[in-house]
Amino acid sequence: MGSGGHGARIAVVGQGYVGMVAAACFAKLGNKVVGVETNAAYLEGLRAGRIPFFEPGLEDLIAEQLAAGRLSYTGDHAEGVAGAEFVFLAVGTPKHAGGMADLSQIESAVEQLAGFLEPDAIVVIKSTVPVRTAERVRDLILHARGSEFPVSVVSNPEFLQQGRAIESFLRPDRIVIGGSPDATGRVARLYAGVDAPILETNHETAAMVKYASNAILATRISFVNEMAKLCDSVGVDFITVARGMGMDHRINSLFMAPGPGFGGSCFPKDVSALVAMGQDSGVDMILLKEVLRVNHRQPRYVYDKLRARVGDVRGRTITLFGLSFKAETDDVRESPALDLARILISEGADVRVYDPHAEEKGAIVLPTAHYHPDPYVAAEGADALVICTEWPEFRSLDLDRLREHLASPVLIDARNVLDPESAARHGFRYTGIGRGTDPVA
Ligand SMILES: NC(=O)c1ccc[n+]([C@@H]2O[C@H](COP(=O)([O-])OP(=O)(O)OC[C@H]3O[C@@H](n4cnc5c(N)ncnc54)[C@H](O)[C@@H]3O)[C@@H](O)[C@H]2O)c1
Repeated sequence: MGSGGHGARIAVVGQGYVGMVAAACFAKLGNKVVGVETNAAYLEGLRAGRIPFFEPGLEDLIAEQLAAGRLSYTGDHAEGVAGAEFVFLAVGTPKHAGGMADLSQIESAVEQLAGFLEPDAIVVIKSTVPVRTAERVRDLILHARGSEFPVSVVSNPEFLQQGRAIESFLRPDRIVIGGSPDATGRVARLYAGVDAPILETNHETAAMVKYASNAILATRISFVNEMAKLCDSVGVDFITVARGMGMDHRINSLFMAPGPGFGGSCFPKDVSALVAMGQDSGVDMILLKEVLRVNHRQPRYVYDKLRARVGDVRGRTITLFGLSFKAETDDVRESPALDLARILISEGADVRVYDPHAEEKGAIVLPTAHYHPDPYVAAEGADALVICTEWPEFRSLDLDRLREHLASPVLIDARNVLDPESAARHGFRYTGIGRGTDPVA
């Protein structure tokens, strides 16, 4: 077996967002990587260099690493794990009923692969898992291989951001590795080509760093959204408030944009998991419960703004620009735009959608909306337009042309991507979030 630096043999089990990126990036760092995936359609696509979602640069990186012979894929755990010094677990840990993380994918992956682990292999948990999961993984392996089997388990949570996944894997703010010093040191050497500070700690701390990091970002979003609401009702522009706040380096200006709320596969489930962890341990996570509650109400706030402009939406045509939970991804999981669309549909509106990348995924979960591949066609004859996702292209729309296509010039900019004055100059009845110009009762 090698030393665990470049040229290591790695298996990455689970080829969703995180696993695909980790496998391709570890290959790029010079390792020999096998991605293990049970979804046959994903697997077939990957072998041909195709990925089942939109992520800038990832298909090219996969094609490059496949061609270099450093990356391959299999659906067979025995084949993937044989000879591997490091076995990364990157399977899903979705929200279980009650809010806790559902560990069934982790458990079945470990049961499937345990029999094929090499002695002294390191099993690295990359998925986001609650404290004490490492113990559970170790127990499952020892149960399968006998209590003397030499294996180490390491916790190495992932912090990548969809939409800039490769960059955030290869140039992260930090790498967190939990476990015994010997095993964490070996995993740390895998990241030798990555320029980032490394925090080596124990399993529980590593798991908590991941959850707490997502929780504070989610908290910040709910705080900003609540402040924006207050600013709307007292006639203050929150964008300027945020600029003034951000000049204080203790606060900074990141994550200061009000909007329709947070979504995606991580923030909602990870905050819920912390609330559930608190419940299990007798700690009432009051703040995080409210963070979720504020977030849950935010799409309704956007709806209220729309209603304040157009009245009853029954029989009206409302066009949404953007359906993904944020820009640069086609992921619509827990997207606040979906919540808004569902409210509109339940109130009798005809909902049209334009999203540069999320149309296909949107049509699966929201088949009752009408999808258009051209923003101007999507706006044709509509009674109002709502910008739900901050896609950069929305900043360079031809506002005159858009205005002419709409039946009524109502524009709700739930991401504040446009300049209110410029929109008004082009004839729009413009409403942003937190701009302080349009109190909603
Ligand atoms: N998506 C993100 O941006 C992100 C960021 C940081 C951390 N995470 C965490 O990383 C983990 C993975 O997230 P994701 O978004 O990639 O999940 P995902 O659901 O997109 O992907 C999981 C993949 O694992 C596969 N899988 C399930 N069981 C398997 C098994 N037994 N063997 C092989 N493959 C199996 C599934 O088919 C799926 O393709 C989660 O814990 C998540 O919380 C996600």
